[in-house]
Amino acid sequence: MNLDGGQLRERIRSAVSSQTQTTITVLSCLLAVQDEIGYLPDESLEEVASRMDTTINEVWGVASFYTNFRFTPPGDRVVEVCWGPTCHLLGAPHILKAVMDELGLEDEGETEGNRTSLKYNTCLGACSQAPVMMVDHRLVGRVTIDKALAHVSEARDGA
Ligand code: FES
Repeated sequence: MNLDGGQLRERIRSAVSSQTQTTITVLSCLLAVQDEIGYLPDESLEEVASRMDTTINEVWGVASFYTNFRFTPPGDRVVEVCWGPTCHLLGAPHILKAVMDELGLEDEGETEGNRTSLKYNTCLGACSQAPVMMVDHRLVGRVTIDKALAHVSEARDGA
């Protein structure tokens, strides 16, 4: 997504102001921005601080506390592998290793050219379907290594 500064700020403001809950917090603003844009650009810290009538330092304190926030753009496709307790017991380490090998990564992060992001997740909320992964926000349950690799290739090759 290539937005100029003005368009980016407009999307941030729109995400922050479109929240429907009555209690709007710095955290909920940041979540709304990340849901909309996929990460928290510097401008979002300024916009949230302004909206919540607080300082950029306060907003940064909240943003940097939660590991789920990211500060750089995600890849074009996003693959998440759950490594929470249930998934771990049911084979997540083998699936994660296979996915990393397939993407040529040694840790979570982005492949070359920012085409694919790999993220670990501590629980995708579908333990009964474990082991679980998510591809572009689409949940895939009862994952085997073959199934995981098929989804990763599909995502990577843009299918
Ligand atoms: S531990 Fe993996 S979905 Fe809950």
